[in-house]
Amino acid sequence: MPKISFSGRTIECSEGANLRRVLLDANLPLYNGVAGVIHCRGLGTCGTCAIEIEGPVSEMTKVETWRLGFPPHRSESGLRLACQCKVLGDLKITKHGGMWGNQIENES
Ligand code: FES
Repeated sequence: MPKISFSGRTIECSEGANLRRVLLDANLPLYNGVAGVIHCRGLGTCGTCAIEIEGPVSEMTKVETWRLGFPPHRSESGLRLACQCKVLGDLKITKHGGMWGNQIENES
């Protein structure tokens, strides 16, 4: 079973599991602030479930590519939308700041 490290915890999930669902079921802080109540519930349209992922996940979906391609996101950020990702192996996840999780430190 893949292991997911996030916010000081490590959990396990089934391979192929939806990453957003896994994080929410474990009460891990996927959303920042008010985004926790006004997100799109996994449709891939709001962009607030954006995270940095180290490790194997599924290819970007069309809606994910679309949503990460306009502000406040930037397609070159390397972020992914948890709601569009299937877990394919061990992952290390980082949530960045801001409502959309797009405020990456050390970026100008
Ligand atoms: S929950 Fe809205 S884009 Fe993922």
